[in-house]
Amino acid sequence: VRWFPLETQDGSWTLVHPVHGEACHSLAGAWTQARERYALPCGLAQRAREIAAEGGTVLRLLDIGTGLGLNLAAALEALESSGVALEAVTLELDSSVPRAAIELARGRAQGPWLDWHAPVLRALATALDAPGRVVPIARGTASVGNLRLVLGDARETLPALEPALEMEEFDAVFLDPFSPRVDPSLWEEPFLREVARRMAPLSRLSTYSSSFAVRLALARAGLCVGKGPRVGAKSSGTLACRGCEPPPLEPRAARRLARRAREGPAPESSGVCGLRS
Ligand SMILES: C[S@@+](CC[C@H](N)C(=O)[O-])C[C@H]1O[C@@H](n2cnc3c(N)ncnc32)[C@H](O)[C@@H]1O
Repeated sequence: VRWFPLETQDGSWTLVHPVHGEACHSLAGAWTQARERYALPCGLAQRAREIAAEGGTVLRLLDIGTGLGLNLAAALEALESSGVALEAVTLELDSSVPRAAIELARGRAQGPWLDWHAPVLRALATALDAPGRVVPIARGTASVGNLRLVLGDARETLPALEPALEMEEFDAVFLDPFSPRVDPSLWEEPFLREVARRMAPLSRLSTYSSSFAVRLALARAGLCVGKGPRVGAKSSGTLACRGCEPPPLEPRAARRLARRAREGPAPESSGVCGLRS
């Protein structure tokens, strides 16, 4: 499989799918998207401070769609100087994507993100030889966390994840599959319910999708559903939270979502926060 490299507007590189032609990132900037769409709205820096204040030492991240590992790199950056290490489970269908990313970084994909991306790519290179195993992430001589690359269809691998390193519940989730137009698999309600089930109290999930069906599935899974930030020319995505309030949706959209979330077979929670009106 040959993924095509593409430079995005902030100078960072992404890969384009060889068959359906969708890029792994917004053309406005792959690195910008990783930071502003995932690490920032998931509140990783703040969450890390809270975890440290409670005597914890790790932030557990579920990264759905490893791709080039840029979102993982943004997570590492967000945790810098927090005293909290990253414990990531990263789910990927196709090992040729991280392999292509490693190749790309050897050549042209150089830039300020490399400080964070290089440690992730080194860990991914090790993990590709031992998928499913926990491998360390090192930045220079410092250990900054661990990652576990789980290869296969996330609809099968996530439910089959055995608890390891206390990773059965996650403090944050990056939901970054291809769009439903080219690959609807990871936007299906049963999968989103499985994801929500593994979110710890105060955990946040961020995704670029603002689709009503995706928001409804997340609300019906018991999460508070709100607006994510705008990134480049992209509309707001979605931020969904367990036991906390994300930025609210427009009142009309919130009312429609609340109405629909109450219908249908037993939603996991009624009166979901942000959906009461
Ligand atoms: C938009 S890209 C992710 C980019 C990535 N988050 C990054 O930081 O570079 C989507 C990724 O999801 C993977 N994917 C697609 N369907 C999947 C599935 N059913 N299970 C697991 N991964 C899947 C694709 O192979 C691709 O690498």
